[in-house]
Amino acid sequence: MSDTHSVRAYSMGAMILHWLIAALILTQLAVGFLMSRVDSVPDTLRFAMFQWHKTFGVAVLTLTIARIAWRLFHTPPAHAPMSRAEATAASIVHVLFYALMLIVPLTGWLLVSASSTGIPTFLFLSQSLVWPHIFVPTSIRATVETVSDYAHIILAYGFGLLLVLHVAGALKHSLIDKMPSFSRMLPLGWLTRMPSSAIGALVSVVLALCFIGGGLAISQTGAPTAVNAANLGPTSAAPSGWVIDKAKSKLAYSINFSGTPTAGTIGTWDATVDFDPDNLAAAKASISIAAASVDFDNPFVKPNISGDDGLQTAAHPLVEVVLDRFERAGAAYIGHGNVLIRGATVPVSVAFDMKRDETGRAIATGSAELDRLVLGLGLQNDAKGEWLDKLIRVSFTLEASPSGPTS
Ligand code: HEM
Repeated sequence: MSDTHSVRAYSMGAMILHWLIAALILTQLAVGFLMSRVDSVPDTLRFAMFQWHKTFGVAVLTLTIARIAWRLFHTPPAHAPMSRAEATAASIVHVLFYALMLIVPLTGWLLVSASSTGIPTFLFLSQSLVWPHIFVPTSIRATVETVSDYAHIILAYGFGLLLVLHVAGALKHSLIDKMPSFSRMLPLGWLTRMPSSAIGALVSVVLALCFIGGGLAISQTGAPTAVNAANLGPTSAAPSGWVIDKAKSKLAYSINFSGTPTAGTIGTWDATVDFDPDNLAAAKASISIAAASVDFDNPFVKPNISGDDGLQTAAHPLVEVVLDRFERAGAAYIGHGNVLIRGATVPVSVAFDMKRDETGRAIATGSAELDRLVLGLGLQNDAKGEWLDKLIRVSFTLEASPSGPTS
């Protein structure tokens, strides 16, 4: 163990890829642990951590493809002088590293692809960078999800262990054997570097770009189409005590996503209201909503709104609310009735107050709370309310002028 002069450093490309991948893996281990095991991480942050974890994981996979291509074109420098057993151990650790650099991100990717929580993967949290999910047949989804989850967790922490061994080996060579070790992977030392080849660099970059670009392109072709607002047609001809001024009225909702209140919009709706505060027994209100005009300001949930796990707009184009029992609640009112959604009827209560100006015009503001699980919404994607809260808060402001007998 004497000749340090024959020891050579890795090629520049190998060094760059080594440190980039190492930094990402350490970040992945820390972020993965925090988001999965630390309860005190706020929900608002946890969701973003999952998305960054997926982004960095895809980056590890991409850079590993580049690293393997680089390796095919560049022979690594020979081991620094060491015993045969140590050289064998070092080689085994390196092969295991390559295997885990591929398998750990792949199991993570498989896990999110098979997950019952069908949350899309947006690289860098950008809606225009959709990463595709691997196709997993429905019949084996649950099994694939469980197996890949276990594999990801065990192999990821195994990766951490291997890193410790790897660094311990490097420290032993440097500090005990007094052999160049870290300097073989640093561009600063006096060691002669292995040469870099232009063709190797080109192939590595092209393969990495093909992988990441190909993935993003596949998603573009399968991207969900925008939800079209349906036209409810002319204002309902049903007799109404009030003519709703739709330009000044608003119907909306909000649901907490990952702890953050997120707005939902209702584009096309119509309402007929017969409401006389002095004759509550005869009061009645109904609202029809074009299901396809319902939107939600969250790119992860939005693609599911109209489909099977959402409002099923193709089969059920209208969501209807009918309130036919009213009572006073102090200076305000509560209307009771039903909401007809996806062909099922669910009871609902709406609290509101109503003010009138000197011209007789009325402004009613109110709200209602609905449990999306009771409505059957999002059961496939998030039945536990892990990311998307169960509570839907509907709010409205209706401005109306009296018409006919009620004034
Ligand atoms: C080198 C790359 C990666 C490393 C080192 C890594 C590491 C980890 C770690 C340490 C955990 C925490 C496990 C636990 O304590 O439960 C974790 C969880 C997770 N990772 Fe990764 N990961 C990588 C890549 C990926 C990729 C590419 C994806 C998806 C595209 C992904 C998706 C996930 C998910 C969804 C979880 C949560 C698992 C659960 O809730 O049970 N990971 N990862």
